[in-house]
Amino acid sequence: MTIGVIGGSGIYEALPLENTRTESISTPYGEPTDDVTLGELGGREVAFLPRHGSDHQHTPTDVSYRANIYALKAAGVDRVIATNAVGSLREDLPPQTLVVPDQIFDRTKHRSPTFFGDGMVVHMGFAKPYCPEMVAHLAESAREATDAQVAENGTYVCIEGPQFSTKAESEFYREQGWDVVGMTAIPEAKLAREAELSYATVAGVTDYDVWKEDSEVTLEEVLENAEANQESINAVIERAIRTMPDDFESHAWSALEGTINTPPEAIPAETRE
Ligand code: ADE
Repeated sequence: MTIGVIGGSGIYEALPLENTRTESISTPYGEPTDDVTLGELGGREVAFLPRHGSDHQHTPTDVSYRANIYALKAAGVDRVIATNAVGSLREDLPPQTLVVPDQIFDRTKHRSPTFFGDGMVVHMGFAKPYCPEMVAHLAESAREATDAQVAENGTYVCIEGPQFSTKAESEFYREQGWDVVGMTAIPEAKLAREAELSYATVAGVTDYDVWKEDSEVTLEEVLENAEANQESINAVIERAIRTMPDDFESHAWSALEGTINTPPEAIPAETRE
């Protein structure tokens, strides 16, 4: 098994990886946001990639999600632990709570959501956007590894950003019963499934979004809580890697089996454009 980790650069620095080496991986989808760092932890092979680049230079819209997932797959990864910073849509999920969501609502507008196209039509099931086996493992690791409040399951609404939401949007999300709001779950989760990777995330709450009276999300608050969350998220990831069951099985590993998959030659030339 090789365990991929996608998150802020502080995570790689904090994980006690041994025998590290970096690989610069080119992909048909352009350059990943950074080199992949490979190493060992607790006898497990780990591949780390900072989603926004090592200097946080990519916006949520500009991240080369396809290149990142492709690079991890090329590095031999079969399961991914992601991390995200999120705003809370619930009073009882205060900043510094760790949430392991099981659902996503996609509100993004400007991102390439698939590896396929160009005559290759693949309709993949995505009813459970996060791998349930990995969700359970990350939630258990979070409860064991930290004193932070941990919420297992819940819906992550993914907005385009980079601006935070309006109050009307935030209130609407709450009315839907959604739990946290962020900018990076999509298309990463979709592409991970298309790549048949087991994928789930540990999301650290950095703020109450703007629904809360007198609440304005400030970058200062987000960064302050993101830094505080970093320590507990690192502890969760380390534990999840060390305790990854040898008999871990994911349905995502056969996600493309039985999908409607049209080879290019089956599509009439005049409709291929
Ligand atoms: N990331 C951290 N806090 C957020 C918020 N309130 N909305 C969207 N993304 C976020």
